[in-house]
Amino acid sequence: MNSIKILAIESSCDDTGAAVIVDGGIQSNIVANQKVHKEYGGVVPELASRAHQQNIIPVVDTALKKAGVDKKELSAIAVTKGPGLLGALLVGTTFAKTMAMVLDIPIIGVHHMQAHVLAHFIDEPKPIFPFICLTVSGGHTQLVLVKAVDQMDIIGETLDDAAGEAFDKIAKILGLEYPGGPLLDQLAQQGNPLSFKFAEPKVPDLNYSFSGLKTSVLYFLRKQDESFVKDHLHDLCASVQHTIVTILMKELVKATKQFNINQVTIAGGVSANSELRKVFEQTGKEKAWQTYIPKFEYCTDNAAMIAIAGHYQYLQGNFEQQDFSPVARWKF
Ligand code: KG4
Ligand code: ZN
Repeated sequence: MNSIKILAIESSCDDTGAAVIVDGGIQSNIVANQKVHKEYGGVVPELASRAHQQNIIPVVDTALKKAGVDKKELSAIAVTKGPGLLGALLVGTTFAKTMAMVLDIPIIGVHHMQAHVLAHFIDEPKPIFPFICLTVSGGHTQLVLVKAVDQMDIIGETLDDAAGEAFDKIAKILGLEYPGGPLLDQLAQQGNPLSFKFAEPKVPDLNYSFSGLKTSVLYFLRKQDESFVKDHLHDLCASVQHTIVTILMKELVKATKQFNINQVTIAGGVSANSELRKVFEQTGKEKAWQTYIPKFEYCTDNAAMIAIAGHYQYLQGNFEQQDFSPVARWKF
């Protein structure tokens, strides 16, 4: 039987990614981070689209070269269909459609959030079905019950801001550059997580809310003098991080009890957070869970996760029509 060789493309937000997967094994995974958004304190959609246009050809070329795969050998092209910024998705999907048409191969439309979950299937050990995944990124915060690679139920989610958004927005209030999440994580290492207490949200079980936390940090700081943030930066970062991680873990623990599950995973950009990883592993030991965290480079946005999702969809013959459109909002 011929090998299944898939080129995968990711362009849903501010990272342009391409990866090559051969028979389910990742051969290359290239990401170009867009620096252009830094000075604006958040992703500027139009600038993201333009940067994707500049990056996509070199990123795809490098991914193919590194994998040692010629484009003529490809079996299919997988691409993020949504959810994400429409203009950014259009660059990836238009490129993928054109390449698939020229090569006369099928095209696979991948759900970005399902791909974050499927990042657990890139390396060993892989979680055993059914498992629960806390998917935490810049745009989403979801508790997902995963019954099979193509059978996922959202059992809880944020009612307003995502956890990554909370990290970034609070980091911005503290004067940190975008994306503030990783910087806040670094600064928190030297702070005391119990220095400041911020209110936890009251929402129905298994759901989240982070907009109140952002407001409570803002109001708290308004009452302080000018140098307060500078003088207490490490403690503020550690306390905010501790609050977000506590909120995330509380509902995850409830979900495992409610569904009687001990295979537990985290995914998405915020799963790169050092405190979340630590508390997740500790809780796993206490509760006798089997825990799984993807490799660091498969947590934040990347095309390897699109490639593994694409591989499974290829096996199922789950292809798109040539004229499919990307979708900015996409429930599953
Ligand atoms: O999954 P992702 O790369 O992109 C989306 O699909 O949104 O997640 C990006 C988010 C950003 O909000 C970023 O600040 C956050 O993940 N993030 C972190 C860390 N690394 C990335 N948040 C906290 N601590 C980190 N170490
Ligand atoms: Zn993502």
